[in-house]
Amino acid sequence: MRNIPIAKPLIGDEEINGVIEVLKSGMLASGKEVEEFEKEFAQYLGVKHGIAVVNGTAALDVALKALRIGPGDEVITTPFTFIASANSILFQGAKPVFADIDPKTFNLDPNEVLEKINEKTKAILVVHLYGQPADMKAFKEIAEDHKLYLVEDCAQAHGAEFNGQKVGTFGDIAAFSFYPTKNMTTGEGGMVVTNDDELAKRADLIRNHGQAEKYLHVELGYNLRMTNIAAAIGRAQLKKLDGWNERRIENARLLTDGISEIDGLTPPYTDPRVKHVFHQYVIRVEEEFPLNRDELMVKLGEKGIGSAVHYPIPVHHQPFYQKLGYPNDICSNAVEASKKVLSLPVHPAVNRGDIDYIINTLRELGTL
Ligand SMILES: Cc1ncc(COP(=O)(O)O)c(C=O)c1O
Repeated sequence: MRNIPIAKPLIGDEEINGVIEVLKSGMLASGKEVEEFEKEFAQYLGVKHGIAVVNGTAALDVALKALRIGPGDEVITTPFTFIASANSILFQGAKPVFADIDPKTFNLDPNEVLEKINEKTKAILVVHLYGQPADMKAFKEIAEDHKLYLVEDCAQAHGAEFNGQKVGTFGDIAAFSFYPTKNMTTGEGGMVVTNDDELAKRADLIRNHGQAEKYLHVELGYNLRMTNIAAAIGRAQLKKLDGWNERRIENARLLTDGISEIDGLTPPYTDPRVKHVFHQYVIRVEEEFPLNRDELMVKLGEKGIGSAVHYPIPVHHQPFYQKLGYPNDICSNAVEASKKVLSLPVHPAVNRGDIDYIINTLRELGTL
């Protein structure tokens, strides 16, 4: 039987040799390798500064701290995301305000965001979910019109583009994650990117003890520095990112060709203005399908096909957010999506035979 995992990091000789070089150099902590990775990643995106940190959650935290988001401030974001997006707002003592998603793209709906803006609103935190850019034309306009900061959570969207421009370059500041399941990895890791010199300087201070010069501390900061070991992996991965993204896009195309023919399964919608890099390939399991979403997951697992739900509980329904007093009856599109979505394997290690097997299995399960 086939065994097709839902995610698989690809580590080659380049990553291994890069790490060995760092180990041999004895310079294990943050140093030249990190600086090179920051430069190369920023250059790849077409942005001025990259500030490498320990993970994507830290990148979001540092980004919001650099903007001086704080108590009394509201930041509008999506409830249909990984918890870290919203938590990064809570870390500042600020309030996440949830706006609903567009049910077609699963991304934040600009019209819903507009309705949530008030005098306390300081920023919009947009997430490019599953590798599909949010509507950055609309969000840029809203941010400019209302004088709000625009923050991009690009944890799932390395190399994704909106109107030919890479995500991470639209807002004031953006955050990436290099967790092993992402389109590229450093083991654990993250990157803050910005075109703003002042924000870059503050982000650098915050990740490094607020240290302006050796033992001169001008800000409250942490140690959130990336290691040279992680950066060596990242540098090798970055060179392969575009090729891997093309394979994800091709796999998604083949999956959609097959899945479009199956009643009760809705393949993902792609906004014609974007390059969707398919961090996840997410279908909707509709009521007409003979199995519900959770039953389908079990059956796929029995056939050796990994699948996952991103995300089964919208952030405002999480126990912790419920304790904070968020009502249940908001963001109905996000709630609905959380019941229907199912992610199927799309990563670059999935081959043509795997895709045919996935489609045939879904077809069989659809005619039970
Ligand atoms: C949308 C989103 N934001 C933030 C994060 C946090 O990144 P990390 O796991 O590297 O802390 C993730 C990844 O898990 C994510 O998917």
